[in-house]
Amino acid sequence: MVVAIEWRRKPTPHIRLIDQTLLPGTETYLEITTVSELVDAIQSLAVRGAPALGAAGALGVVVAMNQGEREGWSPEELERNVDRVRDARPTAVNLMWGVNEVRGAMPEGVDRVLELALQVVEEDGAANRELSRLGADWILEATGKETVRVVTHCNTGALATTAWGTAYGIIHELHERGKLGLVYADETRPLLQGARLTSWELTQDGIEHVIQADGAASSTILRGMVDVAIIGADRIVANGDTANKVGSVALALACERAGIPFVVAAPFSTVDRETATGDDIHIEERSALEVLELGGVRTAPATADAFNPAFDVTPHDLISAIVTERGVVEPARSGGGALFADLVSH
Ligand code: MRU
Repeated sequence: MVVAIEWRRKPTPHIRLIDQTLLPGTETYLEITTVSELVDAIQSLAVRGAPALGAAGALGVVVAMNQGEREGWSPEELERNVDRVRDARPTAVNLMWGVNEVRGAMPEGVDRVLELALQVVEEDGAANRELSRLGADWILEATGKETVRVVTHCNTGALATTAWGTAYGIIHELHERGKLGLVYADETRPLLQGARLTSWELTQDGIEHVIQADGAASSTILRGMVDVAIIGADRIVANGDTANKVGSVALALACERAGIPFVVAAPFSTVDRETATGDDIHIEERSALEVLELGGVRTAPATADAFNPAFDVTPHDLISAIVTERGVVEPARSGGGALFADLVSH
């Protein structure tokens, strides 16, 4: 299994990232020792996926402390740089969550912050394993099928997390149980996380799949070609509304019409109970060039502009299940303020 993000102590302490912008063609690793390098890596999507961003946030505080020590930063300068890591992308709550998990320990020194950051990394992998088991159980029960055909969107595998994956983890779990039919991987315009990354992981894991254009997904669902849609999440708010890669809500609408489950899978670190509804989620808008060009070559007319939201919000009443390592909730049935109450005390 590929390791998307990890801490290395030698030659000098750094975050080691696989550069996801170059996959699947080239396997190159980045060695991050400064805040600016980390912010660039996050914004260019060299590291991406909500849980991987959580790890980047937590380890990023260590990077900032080490850089501050080398360069003699004042306490204010250090805090400003930790904020730069936290704010590098706005939608995935895991990034700010990861920073906040460790920043309170900064007065105890960098060794303690590193210890907590490594805990964030470790716990994400364990959470993904557990939610994958719970998700597979729920789906097999809900569909009543011997094997399930799945559609998924974007990339939610080991590359998007610290290990194993979320929605992808459930797919992998179903595969290991011999319960998986064909997987439809949406290509995920405009940056092709599905075609480049999910297909790469599915291939490595020996999982039978086809890539489809995002625009094909609703029709694949309505034609009865899949039994369940499984996606990840960048932020799940108190009422269950969920932000995920743009295009996700189209799958949810089609699933409702087709009468098949639409499942969201995420570690509990993706749940933001401070935010009431999806209307309050800050949706990142990225460069128009990502839509106007293909592989760096202009495809749209020279004067055309583009609207490029990176995420959309699926309303909770379209979500059959939210699967976390702490348990499964069913927002379409029971959406509302107390959705996560039973899971909080874990
Ligand atoms: O812009 P990205 O590639 O970071 O978007 C990623 C997604 O939307 C994923 O589905 C989400 O972060 C969950 S990853 C387990």
